[in-house]
Amino acid sequence: MSNAQFNDIGACVFDAYGTLFDVHSAVERCRDKLGDKADPLSATWRQKQLQYTWLRSLMGKYENFWTVIGDALDFALATVDIDDPPLRAELMQLYLELDPYPEVVETLSALKNARIKTAVLSNGSLSMLVSAVKSAGIGKLIDSVLSVDKLGIFKPHPSVYQLAVDELDIAAHRISFQSANAWDACGAAAFGFRVAWINRFDQPGEFLPGEPQAELRSLIELPELLGL
Ligand code: LAC
Repeated sequence: MSNAQFNDIGACVFDAYGTLFDVHSAVERCRDKLGDKADPLSATWRQKQLQYTWLRSLMGKYENFWTVIGDALDFALATVDIDDPPLRAELMQLYLELDPYPEVVETLSALKNARIKTAVLSNGSLSMLVSAVKSAGIGKLIDSVLSVDKLGIFKPHPSVYQLAVDELDIAAHRISFQSANAWDACGAAAFGFRVAWINRFDQPGEFLPGEPQAELRSLIELPELLGL
């Protein structure tokens, strides 16, 4: 994809998990205890989190993301045949302290210097997001932390993307939305944001409504996309 520059952007809104924070860093820190089970556990944990958000949204049975990731972890631990409550508690705690991707601080600093507003818009509950932002040391670089929790429904419901428009008071076409989750990028593009899909792992695009206008390898390419 050749990326045309995004002009007249007033705010950059970021997905959290997978985009700013490495979701696999929690399991990574317990690799010595998990051995060969580490990678399948982490992959299943993440896949189930997402499936449960979509299923709960369809069922009209919202619970916040902390509950959802706990349920998903229980499923993932069962699939690798682990029954270890202290390890479960450790993995949950580590989800509050995920590693940021290496380019996050530099990118957010460039946006801050250019006086572009920055926000996180995530399925995470507010307390989870505040913990992750603080632990990553990016609190001063993020202007707003927006959680789906006040809506009671998860991405990619359009009301979630509308929350950013309402809270930031910036029109959708002046918001650049970044997500490494291709389905989230499609949802945001279908809503009307300018969207940069952060395709960290060279994956094929989704066959869904909504097409991201740009595809980047990492967030380090974002300032150039915005003409900074
Ligand atoms: C989020 C998930 C989708 O942060 O990664 O909203």
